Amino acid sequence: MSDSALILENVVVAFGALKAVNNVSMNIANGERRAIIGPNGAGKTTLFNAVTGLFPPTSGKVVFEGRDMSRTPVHKRARLGMSRTFQITNLFPSLTVRENMVLALLGNHPRKYVMFGGLKVSEAEQEQIESALTMSRLLARGDVAVQELSYGEQRQLEMAMALVTQPRMLLLDEPAAGLSPAERVIVSDIISSLPRDLTIVLIEHDMELVLKLVDYVTCLNNGELLAAGTPEEISANEHVRDVYLGKARE
Ligand SMILES: Nc1ncnc2c1ncn2[C@@H]1O[C@H](COP(=O)(O)OP(=O)(O)OP(=O)(O)O)[C@@H](O)[C@H]1O
Ligand SMILES: [Mg+2]
Repeated sequence: MSDSALILENVVVAFGALKAVNNVSMNIANGERRAIIGPNGAGKTTLFNAVTGLFPPTSGKVVFEGRDMSRTPVHKRARLGMSRTFQITNLFPSLTVRENMVLALLGNHPRKYVMFGGLKVSEAEQEQIESALTMSRLLARGDVAVQELSYGEQRQLEMAMALVTQPRMLLLDEPAAGLSPAERVIVSDIISSLPRDLTIVLIEHDMELVLKLVDYVTCLNNGELLAAGTPEEISANEHVRDVYLGKARE
């Protein structure tokens, strides 16, 4: 197997005249923890969509574990070891935590779940669910309806749902957005305790969190690669500071 988990080659994602991702290349090693940062509208989520297949690249290549996936459909990329969370929570509120986990694992619609009185999972699948809940520190909340969870716990559940398929690469889109300082600590602890061989790509605005969690940072601006380096290099980088401070002043 190649040493690279993910290689992007000149990836472009265009929406009409707008190039939301414009000629972005990068190489993420197996087991690496990488942050993608950049101001609002920089193209971070669109880049995740290109990697996972939601919006395939207009041009350029997405290579995962040595295999060109540029045109591979979403569900197949998931089966081949990619998993992601979304910037906006995407849960079934009236179902319990474990029921949401079953649906995430089996990819079934909740109506089917209710109609057939729960879907059967094998013992091995049940173990996958318990293990993902443990990693996401939600084991004690397994039988609680999602609508009873705090917002922070809902974000934890999103991570559990992304982990339950036992991916080799996990893409996290602002997992700590909207959380209180105490909840951010929990999310940060969960991410840093994930298995070291899992490749993690993290979109996050909070540089303090980024500094703690990742090996390397890529900064996007207007769809383009602005800078890449260690967290220390990036937090000292003047261009990066300018785009963030510039936006803050607007
Ligand atoms: N489906 C779409 N159709 C048209 N334009 C889109 C679509 N999705 C994103 N865009 C545009 O592409 C650009 C990049 O958006 P994107 O959501 O990737 O940014 P982001 O870096 O994730 O920002 P944020 O930090 O606000 O989440 C924006 O100008 C956005 O309006
Ligand atoms: Mg985004």
